[in-house]
Amino acid sequence: EDPRLQAISQAIRVVPHFPKQGIMFQDITTLLLDHSAFKDVVDIFVDRYRDMDISVVAGVEARGFIFGSSIALGIGAKFVPLCKPGKLPGEVISEKYVLEYGTDCLEMHVGAVQHNERVIIIDDLVATGGTLSAAIILLERADAEVVECACVIGLSDLKVRSKLNGKPLYILVEPRQVENGF
Ligand code: PRP
Ligand code: MG
Repeated sequence: EDPRLQAISQAIRVVPHFPKQGIMFQDITTLLLDHSAFKDVVDIFVDRYRDMDISVVAGVEARGFIFGSSIALGIGAKFVPLCKPGKLPGEVISEKYVLEYGTDCLEMHVGAVQHNERVIIIDDLVATGGTLSAAIILLERADAEVVECACVIGLSDLKVRSKLNGKPLYILVEPRQVENGF
């Protein structure tokens, strides 16, 4: 295993019962305060994707923007934001998805990706996979080729992977279930 992963995991603050009872929130803002850990995250993704002929990095609002844009610059790709409803000013395509309570939606500008462009989708964390699933559908509706989804945090879970339309999922660290000293 990559020796950098332990420090990356430790740099993520675990906040019990946020935003609601029973959730162990994985707070990446502390990772962003740790230059070395943040750089290691971006370097690991850039090393993985630099020679895979990726022309677009799509990032999920909001924390997927932080990692995704850094990765895009690192591999020389474009960055495309996948936004929550009503944030993009141009013509959009939208894809709804189911949350534990209620639904949410991701939007992408029409024309942001070209036919057959090779895309990776980046977010901070995958839980059920609902968000990434909607992101994949959006990009495939635009005729892009989704090469892989990648998150900093997540479980290597078959149920999650089954939602991703056969697309690979790359994860750096598992969510921590105990507080870690922040
Ligand atoms: C969190 C996280 C992922 C998503 C993963 O975002 O940033 O985007 O949940 O969950 P899933 O795999 O079950 O879809 P959230 O929807 O809480 O909103 P936020 O990013 O705007 O805080
Ligand atoms: Mg999110």
